[in-house]
Amino acid sequence: ANIHHHTFTIKSKAYTRLCNTKKILTVNGEFPGPTLKAYRGDKLVVNVINNANYNITLHWHGARQVRNPWSDGPEYVTQCPIRPGESYVYRIDLAVEEGTIWWHAHSQWARATVHGAFIIYPKLGSSYPFPKPYREIPLILGEWWKKKNIMDIPTNANKTGGEPAISDAFTINGQPGFLYSCSKPDTFTMTVVHGRQYLLRIINAVMDEELFFAIANHTLTVVAKDGLYLKHFESDYLMITPGQSMDVLLHANQLSGRYFVAARAYSSAFGAGFDKTTTTAILQYEVVSLNQSQPVLPNLPPYNRTEATTRFTNQIRSYRFGDRPVNVPVKIDTRLLYAISVNLMNCTDDKPCNGPFGKRFSSSVNNISFVNPSIDILRAYYRRIGGVFQEDFPRNPPTEFNYTGENLPFPTRFGTKVVVLDFNTSVELVLQGTNVLASDNHPIHLHGYSFYVVGSGFGNFDSRKDPLRYNLVDPPEETTVGVPRNGWAAVRFIANNPGVWLLHCHIERHATWGMNTVFIVKDGPTTSSRMVKPPPDLPSC
Ligand code: C2O
Ligand code: CU
Repeated sequence: ANIHHHTFTIKSKAYTRLCNTKKILTVNGEFPGPTLKAYRGDKLVVNVINNANYNITLHWHGARQVRNPWSDGPEYVTQCPIRPGESYVYRIDLAVEEGTIWWHAHSQWARATVHGAFIIYPKLGSSYPFPKPYREIPLILGEWWKKKNIMDIPTNANKTGGEPAISDAFTINGQPGFLYSCSKPDTFTMTVVHGRQYLLRIINAVMDEELFFAIANHTLTVVAKDGLYLKHFESDYLMITPGQSMDVLLHANQLSGRYFVAARAYSSAFGAGFDKTTTTAILQYEVVSLNQSQPVLPNLPPYNRTEATTRFTNQIRSYRFGDRPVNVPVKIDTRLLYAISVNLMNCTDDKPCNGPFGKRFSSSVNNISFVNPSIDILRAYYRRIGGVFQEDFPRNPPTEFNYTGENLPFPTRFGTKVVVLDFNTSVELVLQGTNVLASDNHPIHLHGYSFYVVGSGFGNFDSRKDPLRYNLVDPPEETTVGVPRNGWAAVRFIANNPGVWLLHCHIERHATWGMNTVFIVKDGPTTSSRMVKPPPDLPSC
C-alpha cells in the first residue's frame, strides 16, 4: 500500500464558456478539478489550502472514511469550514473502495465547479471483473452558469425562500459541446480504435438534474456504480442521478466515423423549471469517412419518461466478487421510515422571505428542515458540547398515512436533529417520497456507508406487503439511491462505522432547502471499533 500526497489549492480563476468569461472557484486552477488515482488499500493525504474568498470544505464522495469522520467534509456536520487563508489536511484510507468515486466541495454551492474524479484501481496483482480495457476515460457531467455567481445562490435562496437558479448548459469534462456555436471547437473528443474496449468512468456532478446519457450507435455495458461492481448488463442509455458514478464498457465496434456522446435532463416534475439543454462530446474513430460532416446524435429517452429511468435502474444487481461478498442484513434491529418532502413554509419574523405565494420553499426529512448549527455536530458530539444538536429526530411517523396524498400529518419546522445508533445496529431505512409539492426524484446519499437497496416502488410503502417482495439475494449496493418522488426505496446497512454521518438529497436545491439529516453511530467496544482522535489542524468556526 502506498501513501499519496496531494496539495489542493482552492483559488478562483477565469474561464470562458458560451462566449462568456467569469471567475469560478477551482482546485489548482483546473475545471473540472484534478483526477485522483490510487490503488485499493492505498492512503491519500490531501492538504487543502484555501486561497479563495469563500469558506470551503471537501468531501470524498463514496469513500467510507472508516472510523475517521474528521476527514469526511460536510461543513457544520463533521467540520467547520476552512476559512480563506487557512488550510486543512484530509486523510483518506481506501480499505474497501474500488472503482470510480469522486470528490467535491461540501460547502454552500461550491461543488458546482470544485469537483473531480477519484479512481481506485484494483490492488496491484489483482484485476477487474471484466477484460482489461484498452484505455480508460473519465467523463464528468457538469454544468455552466453564464451570469450567476454560484456562491450567491444558497444565500439568496435562504433570504428570499425562492428557487435557486437553473444552469445555462450541461457540460462533459467542462465543455458544453458541439451544439453551441461558441464552444464547438472545444468539444471534448475521445479518439478510439476500432475493435478495442474502453472503460468510461462517468460521474454526475450536476447540481440539480438527473441525466440520461447515451452514445450514438453504441450499446454500453454497465459494470459498476458508486464504486461498487455490479452484474454486467447492457443498455442503450444510462440514467444517472446527481451524486452517482458509473463504470461503463464501450465496445468500439464501428468501423469509422464520428458519434455524439450526449446527456440531458430527466425531469418528472410537472411544470417545474429545469435545464433543458443537451450537452455533447464526440467519439471519434481513427478513421473518419470524408463524407461525414456532422456526427450522429443518439436516441435519448424523452425528458419525462419515468418508465425509462425505472427500466434502467431495475437492472442493477450487486455482484459477488473477490473478497467482497453480497452480505445483506437479514435480522433488523432498527426500522426507520423517513418521509422526504419538498413543500412551502410560512415566512416568519425571524426568517423573513418572499418566495412563491409569499412563502418559502422548504425541504424536509420527517418534516424537519435541517439547519446548519454554528459549530460542527461531530465536534459537539465528541467533546460533549451541549445545545448544538438534538437527539429527538422524529423516527416513526405513521406508516398507514398516505404520503403521496395531499398533506403530511404535521407541519414542517426547522431543526438540527439526529438519530443516534448503537455500534453494529442493523438498520432498515425506508425513504418515502411525498408529493406535497411537485418536484423531482430524490437521489439520497449516505456518508460513511454503502447500503443495499432491498426494494423500491411507486406510491406508499406498505409495511406488510412490500417487505415480502424484497430482494435479499442480490440487491444493488450503492451510496446514492434514487427515490421516486411519489414512491419509496428501502435500504439496509449495518451501523459499523462510528462517527457522525450526513444523509441528504444530492439535488442541491433540495439540500439547500433542508433535505438533510444526520446519523450518529456510537463507538464500539474495542479500540479498533472507535473513532480516531481529531487531527490537530481541525478548523475552528
Ligand atoms: Cu456527494 Cu454529501 O455528498
Ligand atoms: Cu431531493
